[in-house]
Amino acid sequence: MPKLLHLSCSPRSDSESTAGARIFLDGFRQARPDWDIDVMDLWRERMPEFVGPIVEAKYARMKGQAFSDPQAAQFAEAERMAMRFSLADRVLISTPMWNFGIPYKLKQWFDIIIQPGLTFRFDPAQGYLPLLKDRPTLVILASGSDFATGMNRGRIDMATPYLREALRFIGVSSVSFVPIGPTAGPAEPIRTARDSAHRRLADLAKRF
Ligand SMILES: Cc1cc2nc3c(=O)[nH]c(=O)nc-3n(C[C@H](O)[C@H](O)[C@H](O)COP(=O)(O)O)c2cc1C
Repeated sequence: MPKLLHLSCSPRSDSESTAGARIFLDGFRQARPDWDIDVMDLWRERMPEFVGPIVEAKYARMKGQAFSDPQAAQFAEAERMAMRFSLADRVLISTPMWNFGIPYKLKQWFDIIIQPGLTFRFDPAQGYLPLLKDRPTLVILASGSDFATGMNRGRIDMATPYLREALRFIGVSSVSFVPIGPTAGPAEPIRTARDSAHRRLADLAKRF
């Protein structure tokens, strides 16, 4: 059964990025009723802290050294998480912008799955090469500020370039972004931004 993996990255119950994801997934389920939707809530699922054997395993890999038993055991957790991602035919990431970038749980997820020999490799002649196949990926990014219309020109968005580059590094370059913002401030601009993003998401869902 083909699979869509949803990385759900907001811890809030009235999250704008999660509400956008719901709109998208409702449309997606209608368009592709035979698809399996695997939801990974990054705030509820256990992810290893990147300390001890798991970080040493990354360096062992980079130096071409064999793993110790604890390194092999912890690296297996990274393998399972990377496998869950690599088995997905489509990916949805719904996330808040936090302090100009992404929430630390999503960064932790990237730190765990971006591993040599797992999602990228290094070739002395060609440099860094991705190991995953490309797949359509949608990022719903909710921010207090308005980055969509340029009203907040000059405010910094490091989430979009980070996500684009981190995904491209491992092989995923077909990435679309749907920003939702402003989500803070006067009610009218919030409603306009939300309605416009939801319309776009409902439309994208039919042909994702
Ligand atoms: C810790 C934290 C940091 C934030 N930093 C930013 C920021 O840098 N830029 C911005 O526009 N909004 C920022 N916000 C506002 C959120 O992006 C906004 O509330 C958004 O709707 C959160 O997504 P969610 O509704 O899906 O949880 C921040 C919110 C929190 C809790």
